[in-house]
Amino acid sequence: MSEDEEGGERRRRRSGPVTKGGDARSAKQFHTKVKTARGRKYSSKLWLERQLNDPYVARAKQEGYRSRAAYKLTELDDKFGLIKPGMKVADLGAAPGGWAQVALKRGASHVVGIDLLEIEPIPGATLLELDFTEAGADETLKAALGGRADLVVSDLAPWTTGHKQTDHLRIVALAEAAAHFAIDVLNPGGAFVAKVFQGGATGELLDLLKARFKTVRHYKPPASRSGSAETFVIAQGFRPPSDSAAG
Ligand SMILES: C[S@@+](CC[C@H](N)C(=O)[O-])C[C@H]1O[C@@H](n2cnc3c(N)ncnc32)[C@H](O)[C@@H]1O
Repeated sequence: MSEDEEGGERRRRRSGPVTKGGDARSAKQFHTKVKTARGRKYSSKLWLERQLNDPYVARAKQEGYRSRAAYKLTELDDKFGLIKPGMKVADLGAAPGGWAQVALKRGASHVVGIDLLEIEPIPGATLLELDFTEAGADETLKAALGGRADLVVSDLAPWTTGHKQTDHLRIVALAEAAAHFAIDVLNPGGAFVAKVFQGGATGELLDLLKARFKTVRHYKPPASRSGSAETFVIAQGFRPPSDSAAG
């Protein structure tokens, strides 16, 4: 996760919302400028200015979502019909909980979220404060799911180093780990969504998904900032390896 892209979400979680309300239209009409205060870095000033003028931030505050990221899953679901009533959902990289809120609101019966960060409780969700890449984390997740999942979503994003290739490889590694988990845990017909970065090196991930899912597509929802290299891969119609097809 880049400091620029989502780091502010984390900062906002610690220090409380930075917006003063107002709907998307008013946020657009009155562009708020932030002065560079002593001790505030220029990048922080730009982040704060963007937050104050971002209609999705205002909307998330109004609609009670914990992150503007909630609208990415909302838009992905609107386009691909991912969330169905009664589904079990695994939410990888879940903090502060926007995607879990959306999945539950749209009918999921149980969401299991995992994140390095603590997540405030959400009724209907089991939230694990754990490194997804740690040995045994997959088993802990499976136990919390109490069986197979119907949908695995990954918004996992590492802190970026600023070195483009390194950052790209790190996010692809997380997306690949998420894909392997999905293949291990999904019910036949299930779906997988993962955040990736545009710009190559996802060949192995795509090959893996194409071998196991009926359709594999890329989509960048409108809520994903146009200046960000982030995009999403959406794999639907899971075909389990023959030896694990049992539910
Ligand atoms: C963009 S945020 C997720 C936002 C979330 N989908 C929402 O709607 O609120 C990405 C998250 O991935 C988490 N993350 C990154 N690496 C992780 C790892 N190895 N294990 C668990 N969580 C991780 C970060 O802590 C961060 O909270």
